Amino acid sequence: MRCVVTGAAGFVGSSISDELLARGHSVVGIDCFVDYYPRAMKERNLLSARDHNDFEFVEEDLQQADLEKLFEGADLVFHLAAQAGVRASWGDEFSIYTGNNILATQRVLEAAKSPGVSGTLKKVVYASSSSVYGTAETLPTVETILPHPISPYGVSKLAAEQLMVLYASEFGVPTASVRYFTVYGPRQRPDMAFHRFIKAGIQGEGLTVYGDGEQSRDFTFIKDAVEATIAAGSTEVPALVCNIGGGSRVTVNQVIAQIGDIIGKKLDVNYVDRQKGDARHTAADTSLAQSAIGYSPTTDLATGLAAEARWLEELLS
Ligand SMILES: NC(=O)c1ccc[n+]([C@@H]2O[C@H](COP(=O)([O-])OP(=O)(O)OC[C@H]3O[C@@H](n4cnc5c(N)ncnc54)[C@H](O)[C@@H]3O)[C@@H](O)[C@H]2O)c1
Repeated sequence: MRCVVTGAAGFVGSSISDELLARGHSVVGIDCFVDYYPRAMKERNLLSARDHNDFEFVEEDLQQADLEKLFEGADLVFHLAAQAGVRASWGDEFSIYTGNNILATQRVLEAAKSPGVSGTLKKVVYASSSSVYGTAETLPTVETILPHPISPYGVSKLAAEQLMVLYASEFGVPTASVRYFTVYGPRQRPDMAFHRFIKAGIQGEGLTVYGDGEQSRDFTFIKDAVEATIAAGSTEVPALVCNIGGGSRVTVNQVIAQIGDIIGKKLDVNYVDRQKGDARHTAADTSLAQSAIGYSPTTDLATGLAAEARWLEELLS
């Protein structure tokens, strides 16, 4: 199949592109290298895809690109491009989030419904987020609970998800939204906790934890997130919105202890105030993903952390 991956140079987008290529599909990858973290890391993410004859890379911003042309003949669009990061989404930076997360998604959907594209397009799969829940009242959280984001980032991800549902109901655009719960593993973004923790451990530096470390997360290994996202591309369920979690909830302190075991050093932790926008706990009920797309996570935290540590050791050596 002909696939388009937006955000193809990012952590998750590049991993999805690689898997699609491995499965024999062709991929048009779009990314504009937003400067949230170094371009060099994203160029490295792209190396294996760029080696492939069935991969075409387009360096363009979704807010300006001729998406109708880029989506022409596509069977599947995987929409991963976004401005990530909860903590940076307050204040003046919010316009970056409205642009890259909401306006860009609206343009993706307008292109998807255009006559030149809708004839072949089977699904637009959108990377949503557990941040739409904020501090959910029930854990594990089911999709039917009222979303209540507690960060501007979460608001932008929810708005884009709602656009997916809206274009599906009003224009029949086939969409699916996967609400990722903290994805980790090789290529993880440098601002994300595991990346920061493992790097600090390897380099023998102190690390900062926001809050008391007793906040917990449902962590999802990249391979499981990729599997789920690709599976969502072939679901018959119209406008599916489903959780994608890793299957177990652990505290940040437990993760830090595990990382210490993996790299053979006790980490030196400095606890500072909780940051606004950080949820206290997250946990995914994945029953819907299981029934709709046959999803169940396969990688446990110890195995996934070891894979990320190996990747970072190589990167930093
Ligand atoms: N990583 C996680 O734990 C996680 C959790 C929940 C949801 N998500 C969502 O998954 C997606 C991928 O996240 P990631 O961690 O890979 O982030 P990432 O920052 O590594 O990748 C996003 C990519 O999108 C690109 N991009 C942003 N705006 C663009 C635009 N207007 N035009 C073209 N390219 C643009 C960026 O340059 C970047 O390479 C995002 O939508 C994010 O909100 C991620």
